[in-house]
Amino acid sequence: MNSSLIKIRKIEQSRINEFDFNNIIFGKNPTDHIFLADYHNKEWSNLRIEPFSNLSLSPIALGLHYGQSVFEGMKAYRLNNNEVVVFRPEKHYERLNKSLKRMCMPEIPHQLFSNAIYTLLQIEESWVKNINGSSLYIRPFMIATEERLGVKISDEYLFGIVCMPMGMYYSSNLKVKVETKYSRASEGGTGDVKCAGNYGNSFLPTHLAKQEGFDQILWTDSIQHEYIEESGTMNVMFVIDDVIITPPLTGTILDGVTRDSLIKIAKDLNFIVEERKISYKELELAFIQNKKIEAFGVGTAAVISIIESISINDKLYHTIVNPTSIACKLKKVLNDIKSGSIQDKNNWLRKIDYFTHEDDDIVEFKDSLKLWIINK
Ligand code: COI
Repeated sequence: MNSSLIKIRKIEQSRINEFDFNNIIFGKNPTDHIFLADYHNKEWSNLRIEPFSNLSLSPIALGLHYGQSVFEGMKAYRLNNNEVVVFRPEKHYERLNKSLKRMCMPEIPHQLFSNAIYTLLQIEESWVKNINGSSLYIRPFMIATEERLGVKISDEYLFGIVCMPMGMYYSSNLKVKVETKYSRASEGGTGDVKCAGNYGNSFLPTHLAKQEGFDQILWTDSIQHEYIEESGTMNVMFVIDDVIITPPLTGTILDGVTRDSLIKIAKDLNFIVEERKISYKELELAFIQNKKIEAFGVGTAAVISIIESISINDKLYHTIVNPTSIACKLKKVLNDIKSGSIQDKNNWLRKIDYFTHEDDDIVEFKDSLKLWIINK
């Protein structure tokens, strides 16, 4: 089978009726199907959509031992007019390939990526609901599968895509702590790519902060432990006296798609946005001077998650949290774009096209969006 064919095997009985869309725990309930493809002999093959089930992987698969594993996180929404759209898939695709390159993994051809996403979404489209705040989270991932314990670049990989409905990632406002001991990333490292190791590395400091009653940490730079980088699983933004400030993309933080979208929305609304270094000392001084301060995490899963308090050197400072805040204004515009309530001026939403298929159809692609069925 070549890399432009996807074999589809559908589940006998969908699990959707067992799913409570009003009570979603992030990441626990995948939809019915998974997309998979194998990389052997320098090419992608065996593209398939099949019922979601466990993978079979050798215990000596390289990716399990040496962390050659990357992922993406993107979302599909159901618009008010009932159409299903994906939010900025091209930007996610670019970042996925940047991550793959950094981790010496094979890049995914664009056609394979978009055909896989759109075909899977067509099959799973009933899982995309137009319920306030809900979306279908799409998780593409790749892991090195070559069976070998020698420390080397794998010659074999598995690329997969799973989907799961989600509501709010954080159910309440966040209490965070400025982290000045542990580091997330340093220059030249992997801080700006979505590799699995970046997340595993964050567990201990986050766990310690949770034991102290915080929800997340605010990472600082690895050299002076002074300049703020990200918050847990999100980019971070501050508002000081109506100026939006967010750490710059200097190679140690993730180039967040939500971060990028909010910067554009904020500028469109005539807010001043500064992408610049911000130290916790500057933040502390602003609190001491009683400036108006907002803080929020921004990310695909987190969307905009309000930070209500920040602990700096064991002193707790409270931000402004109210429905007229800049964070709430930005969030409303972003959500309105994603629901189709306002015009998508930036052309961020991609509609999925529909085709009819039956079990065991093989789907061939003419271009990235047009599909037709062969080998019936
Ligand atoms: C995302 O926001 O998509 C993420 O990947 C963060 C987290 C859920 C790992």
